[in-house]
Amino acid sequence: MLALEVQRLSVRFGEFQALEEVSLEVPEGAFVAIVGPNGAGKSTLLKALLGLVPFRGEVRVHGQPLEKADPLWFGYVPQIKTFDRTFPALALELVATGLRRRWPFRLSPRERAQALEALERVGASALAHRPLGRLSGGQLQRVYLARALVRRPRLLLLDEPATGVDRVGEVDLYRYLEAYQAEAGATVLMITHDWEAAHHASHVLVLNRKVVGFGPPEKALSEECLRQAFGHLGHAHDLYVGGGHA
Ligand SMILES: Nc1ncnc2c1ncn2[C@@H]1O[C@H](COP(=O)(O)OP(=O)(O)O)[C@@H](O)[C@H]1O
Ligand SMILES: [Mg+2]
Repeated sequence: MLALEVQRLSVRFGEFQALEEVSLEVPEGAFVAIVGPNGAGKSTLLKALLGLVPFRGEVRVHGQPLEKADPLWFGYVPQIKTFDRTFPALALELVATGLRRRWPFRLSPRERAQALEALERVGASALAHRPLGRLSGGQLQRVYLARALVRRPRLLLLDEPATGVDRVGEVDLYRYLEAYQAEAGATVLMITHDWEAAHHASHVLVLNRKVVGFGPPEKALSEECLRQAFGHLGHAHDLYVGGGHA
């Protein structure tokens, strides 16, 4: 069963073609790492799948056309998390916004329990009653992950979720994701610059406006694919198979 079928998806911003005829098929339960240089259209691809930017082409989610897909199927951690850090809100309340469309000023006991459970799932119970303004970058990432998990999505879209997270936190993050995936049978698409994470994924999508490579890591992370995506191996040197480092 396919979680995601993308056919010839193209996105234009005015004259600028951000994505050109992207096609891919993602089986249910896959863990897809999306890599590519800055400006490659990685974030734009996730936003298109969420219906946040208009596109041409066809997308099916669990066999349904995107318009008919249940919004509750999706969990999303955006790349840039901006909010007014003086806004007097607690971590728990941010997580609960994953259950509703607007800020829940008064949570029902059930919503509170769901939000707490999601925080627990990412090892962040202790943060529940902290004001958002007092969280570190890594803690905020976790709270956003809990927010994405709170509705128990079938499809989890993560835009550089390890940004601002230290190495230990990063390993934890992958552990929580794997645990959730194993339990819920969910499919994960994760944009990352972490070469090691890409090597551990079930599939890698190398993107640079077009699909440069898609498949198992050892195939998609070939030197040729990476040279094509990044223009040179440069900082992507460690990414290709055989270029691993300690
Ligand atoms: N809303 C927008 N309007 C105009 N251009 C955009 C918009 N969003 C993204 N872009 C442009 O599209 C390209 C791809 O952006 P993005 O998907 O954010 O790249 P990535 O996430 O791979 O770094 C960039 O050149 C970016 O400036
Ligand atoms: Mg991006």
